[in-house]
Amino acid sequence: MNNTAKRNIVILTGAGISKESGLSTFRDADGIWATVRIEDVATPEAFARDPDGVHEFYNARRGRLAAGGIEPNAGHAALARLEQEWPGDVLVVTQNIDNLHERAGSNNLYHMHGALLKVRCEACVNVVEWPDNLGRGDTCAACGTTGQLRPHVVWFGEMPFWMDDIHQALEACGLFISIGTSGNVYPASGFVEHARFAAGAHTVELNLEPSEGATLFAEAHYGPATEVVPAYVDKILRDGW
Ligand code: APR
Repeated sequence: MNNTAKRNIVILTGAGISKESGLSTFRDADGIWATVRIEDVATPEAFARDPDGVHEFYNARRGRLAAGGIEPNAGHAALARLEQEWPGDVLVVTQNIDNLHERAGSNNLYHMHGALLKVRCEACVNVVEWPDNLGRGDTCAACGTTGQLRPHVVWFGEMPFWMDDIHQALEACGLFISIGTSGNVYPASGFVEHARFAAGAHTVELNLEPSEGATLFAEAHYGPATEVVPAYVDKILRDGW
């Protein structure tokens, strides 16, 4: 029995959906981790040891995204169209910290790894939009503390955001789609099994090439996100799954 009766759709996205917008992935040959070590820029220990170095890493990425010229692509637009036109719930859970899904029109969206254009105060936990450079000399507008602002980004060893809500959505979906992610990082890479075994959902991988978890999916279409995502959204809207 297919699960069209369960009309909710959960979509996980990773860096691959933003690649054709001009943003780097992490583990491709030209990816971010090919030139910078995770241990140096993406852990709480790195931030404690070298705050200026970590700020410099995120300032460069934030500046590029805030400067303009990085636009949502046809993959992001197709997911926003699906949310508009599909009669059930469509939830996008992104591992990405860019703002391309919201700029494409996706409203039902969780940034489970945080957001590059936001900063959080370690003293009062206030989160604000922050498109500029961030450094140790900056002051929190909410509590007045200086030097306690950090990127509102989930580092390795930290708990992603929205996990309870995400698990509830996975347990109530009929279709789980994974797009542009290598399936290397938990808990996101475990979502396909959760949807499959807790909800009996149909599972689909849309990626440039088979991911680490490719064999866990019931269906797969490989190619650039700007091609395979719009094509699959057209298919769902026409025929369901
Ligand atoms: N279209 C579709 N998929 C693509 C494209 C493209 N144009 N280009 C690359 N890909 C695929 C790659 O084949 C790869 O499987 O996107 C995936 C990117 O994988 P990663 O670089 O590992 O990125 P991601 O899976 O998002 O990483 C997850 O790891 O480093 C942490 O916090 C970081 O959120 C990130 C998490």
